[in-house]
Amino acid sequence: MTLQYSPPIITSELGRHTDALINRNSLSQTHRTPACDRIEGVAVEDLVEKFGSPLFVFSERVLRSAARRAREAFESLYRETLFAWSYKTNYLRAICNIFHDEGWIAEVVSDFEYQKAEKAGIRPSDIIYNGPNKSRHSLERALAQGAVVQIDNWDELGLIEEIAGTLKHAARVGIRVWMDTGHAPVWSKFGFALANGEAARAALRVVANPRLMLHSLHTHIGTYLLDPVAYAVAADRLLAIREMVHGQTGHLVPCINLGGGFPSNSLLHGMVGPAELVVPPVERYAEAIAGVLNTLPRSRRPQLRLETGRHLVDDAGWLITSVVAVKGADRTATAGASVHDLKTGFVLGEHSRGSYVVDAGVNLLYTATWYRIGVSPARAVDMPPNVVRLYGCLCMNIDVIRESVELPPLEIGDRLVLHPVGAYNLTQSMQFIAFRPAVVLIGSDGDVEAIRRREELADIEQGELVPARLMRR
Ligand SMILES: Cc1ncc(COP(=O)(O)O)c(C=O)c1O
Repeated sequence: MTLQYSPPIITSELGRHTDALINRNSLSQTHRTPACDRIEGVAVEDLVEKFGSPLFVFSERVLRSAARRAREAFESLYRETLFAWSYKTNYLRAICNIFHDEGWIAEVVSDFEYQKAEKAGIRPSDIIYNGPNKSRHSLERALAQGAVVQIDNWDELGLIEEIAGTLKHAARVGIRVWMDTGHAPVWSKFGFALANGEAARAALRVVANPRLMLHSLHTHIGTYLLDPVAYAVAADRLLAIREMVHGQTGHLVPCINLGGGFPSNSLLHGMVGPAELVVPPVERYAEAIAGVLNTLPRSRRPQLRLETGRHLVDDAGWLITSVVAVKGADRTATAGASVHDLKTGFVLGEHSRGSYVVDAGVNLLYTATWYRIGVSPARAVDMPPNVVRLYGCLCMNIDVIRESVELPPLEIGDRLVLHPVGAYNLTQSMQFIAFRPAVVLIGSDGDVEAIRRREELADIEQGELVPARLMRR
């Protein structure tokens, strides 16, 4: 990232007069938009030349340092902490393996993810099986193999009781709990309600069944939660259920699982940054949670499990995209335009707003709906920025990456670097009218390796079947 400071032009002409507005200080922030011409020391242009555009880029250094910092933050305050990698956040094999290499077990939410974790060599006893839709077959396998199955609802509990009756060992299960920690929106879709007592009833029913072993009390209170106190509330409430179960049955639930939800260094639309000032560091979350757990005598402290996703991977991912069309703007005004002309376009608003179309769209950037993804040109442009709209490449009007973003005048072929995009965008990407791009990993040593190649027609068609009568050749 090349950052260069240019002092703003300050004028005393502040009024409703257009010229005065145009020359106003607030519209003259800089003459040079910060550029991001390198990612982890590797030139953006070299990456595109070798792997094409668009291109997802991940940094092994950022992944590992986020993992180590989170572990250190928690273990220094609460030694009995175990992290599970939330597969759905990003299940590219190389990414999962980095976390497993750092000591992370696996948290999966489907049969598909369970199979991926098994294929990665994770022992079933190190798999946490979550999610609201677990097939009988997948439950049979997970329970027989000793994974911890987090029970989502009464029907699932009934099915698990049935399966457990056929096993030679007690099945390891958790009860998933939803609760209001004082932060909207309350995630009430998953698990048993705390408030009406059903979570407690479900826990007692599990403990009463000798074929089941209540291993965990689990909650996932949301995602991108900016208030660490919410976790203190959640931990406190799970401990209260644990105390109640212990008091009534003598079973001390060995594990409290607080799910995911810690934020990454990103902003939601409408938020004012920079993200580093808005988003609490992971240490604050560790303090809030450990502050509650450490009130217990040492011998009664549970293992703490966390399923942190977004926080660990989002900042480690970039998307390089290229400008394929410049629209709306008066291009004669931008070519050799004066600062005054450029600002006129900015002040006059919608009708004069320019837009860029780039070769990646919301098919690859699902999170652009909520998150204000940062956009930097890959070259420094000695022109003041304009407020423009950034369109994706899809044939859909809703394909807008940023409704309004400040960018300097750009040309077709200019690269833009979008960040952070490492969480959820790959796993939620749509195969829609375009091939999905390659993904590369910049290793801790600076080497660049593909961790997924660009999609080809054969990848997309391989599952298709054409009845003989519809064959064209
Ligand atoms: C059960 C569970 N655990 C962990 C996560 C990861 O959440 P995050 O990416 O917000 O850390 C999710 C995401 O929705 C989840 O549903």
